[in-house]
Amino acid sequence: MKYSKIIGTGAYLPSKILSNKDLEKIFDTSDEWIQTRTGISQRHIIGENERTSDLAYQAALDVLKNSSIDPAEIDLILVATTTPDKVFPSVACAVQRKLNIKNIPAFDIQAVCSGFIFALTTADSFIKSGTYKKILVIGADSMSSITDYKDRSNAILWGDGAGAVILSASNEPGIIRNIIHSNGEYEELLHVPRKSETNDPNTIEMQGNAVFKIAVNTLDQIVDETLSGSGFEKKDIDWLVPHQANIRILQATAKKLEMSMDKVIVTIDKHGNTSAASIPLALNEGIRSNRVKAGNLILMEAFGGGFTWGSSLIRI
Ligand code: COA
Repeated sequence: MKYSKIIGTGAYLPSKILSNKDLEKIFDTSDEWIQTRTGISQRHIIGENERTSDLAYQAALDVLKNSSIDPAEIDLILVATTTPDKVFPSVACAVQRKLNIKNIPAFDIQAVCSGFIFALTTADSFIKSGTYKKILVIGADSMSSITDYKDRSNAILWGDGAGAVILSASNEPGIIRNIIHSNGEYEELLHVPRKSETNDPNTIEMQGNAVFKIAVNTLDQIVDETLSGSGFEKKDIDWLVPHQANIRILQATAKKLEMSMDKVIVTIDKHGNTSAASIPLALNEGIRSNRVKAGNLILMEAFGGGFTWGSSLIRI
């Protein structure tokens, strides 16, 4: 079998909701400002005793159920996350323990908001090399745990959640093309510094305006790079399933693709930016809502801290 294919999706969102109205009580902002600038009206937030591995585990149970796969069939667990429960061990090892799967490799991938694309690319390579046949790929983040709720231009963006897929060896494509890139030059524009000496919590620091401009330009380029030499054109793409950072970034990418917004799976209004979880959550939403159908051509793309960015062109 020379291809890899997503054979199921799953998702989990914590039950607690933080709305724009709730944020109005924390700092000087308005529902109208947040919706206009970002497209976000609410986000899901972990409960007091919930951690990223709990979200990841629930998404894993959902994808296993939806694809009728027994945990014993899984050869590898990959979790894309920036908010692990602990410095170590990995969230992937925690998921393995919770699923009671023994003696398979499990590890995390850290590429912030592009993490799911990086994890899917890694999984695709393992399958195409013949090493593994079924890989559980999860994107899970608890961004609220690294959000400074005193920083109004930043705290409005982030949410928590997890999405998962099973990538399987297949006789038909599947994953057509993956592209991943990194550039460490702009670290200071979007990062979480360690502040252990001052005992301050480690929280996201971001120059939102600069990140916005670089993200739009970079995603513009990745559209061309993905399609060039792929054998497909813009008009062939049925659905854009993008990382959900800001509705205006999504609109810019749709415009580049000459695509109307009803061909874009949008979850940012309800989820906010859930970092590595946002693409698998959106893919699951597209499938569960009967918009994304078997045989559709899908472009997934992401940009995030690092900077990192990437895309996957897939046939679902
Ligand atoms: N409510 C009300 N006003 C706010 C506000 C809030 N939550 N946050 C900022 N403002 C104010 C600012 O103080 C500023 O006021 P001033 O003009 O009086 O100085 C004004 O709104 C404009 O601020 P600015 O930061 O330029 O806004 P913006 O249009 O760039 O929107 C972001 C801010 C964060 C929404 C936007 O830059 C963004 O989404 N960037 C991309 C971030 C991102 O996606 N990061 C993750 C990548 S994966």
